[in-house]
Amino acid sequence: MQRTKAIILAGGNGSRLYPLTSIISKQLQPVYDKPMIYYPLATLMLSGIQDVLLITTPHDAPHFNSLLGNGSQWGISISYAEQSAPKGIAEAFIYGKEFIGSDQVCLILGDNLFYGKLDFLRNALQSNKGATIFGYPVQDPERYGVVEFSPDGTVLSIEEKPLQPKSQYAIPGLYVFDNRVISIAEHLKPSERGELEITDVQKEYLNLHALRVEKMGRGIAWLDTGTPESLLEAGEFIHAIEKRQNLKIACLEEIALRMNYINAEMFEIMLNHLPNSSYREYCKRVLNEFQSE
Ligand code: G1P
Repeated sequence: MQRTKAIILAGGNGSRLYPLTSIISKQLQPVYDKPMIYYPLATLMLSGIQDVLLITTPHDAPHFNSLLGNGSQWGISISYAEQSAPKGIAEAFIYGKEFIGSDQVCLILGDNLFYGKLDFLRNALQSNKGATIFGYPVQDPERYGVVEFSPDGTVLSIEEKPLQPKSQYAIPGLYVFDNRVISIAEHLKPSERGELEITDVQKEYLNLHALRVEKMGRGIAWLDTGTPESLLEAGEFIHAIEKRQNLKIACLEEIALRMNYINAEMFEIMLNHLPNSSYREYCKRVLNEFQSE
């Protein structure tokens, strides 16, 4: 498998969630029983990525840092970069240049939640040759990047938040790019709204005949957290599944143990530091189950 670094972009001012976001960043808001950032981090960890750069604002960086630290407690590495003013998603590759080095990179937006079997991502990481992005049918594609396919599945166009979407397929905030992405981002021109658009990066790969767009199957839930209502719905979704299955989604300790990023001893040390809570009880159960397997 190619070496993959990952970037979580957790910038922006979250203005659509005001006043929730007047003090606490959007990606630290609760999605039921965990801060939002746990979910994209879990997605990366579950797909085998252990080297993560978190890009956030200078104001929020200390909060993320005290929540996640350097990741060693979960057997991963988390480093941080600060984006002083939000100038577009594609800027992540410029900030992340040194971190990416000569590897390929997976970018996930800190407010994008995925639930389901992550084989689609593992496959993309393994077989990506240029850029791999995804298409997910939604009711309101005009809120997203939109990809249009011909009947035989060829990509015809990509547009950022089109007023009249040419298809139902939104592009989720989860992308895999080869190393060319750095120079592509460096040469991008800002859009009319003054941002380096991620869709312009995708179009560049399309022009180079190096873009693959995979349709995400029905088995995957891609949840939005952009408005107070969708944030609540995402929390309700997580709650419903966790309650029904008596499991936790995106419990980073559990993922670290099950992915063998840490061993049972390290897990136990970490467990002893968790405050009394249902989360701790859950982790205790995970350890017991793990040791009796
Ligand atoms: C961004 C991207 C868009 C993508 C979306 C996914 O939009 O620009 O192409 O479909 O994320 O969440 P934003 O939500 O930042 O406006």
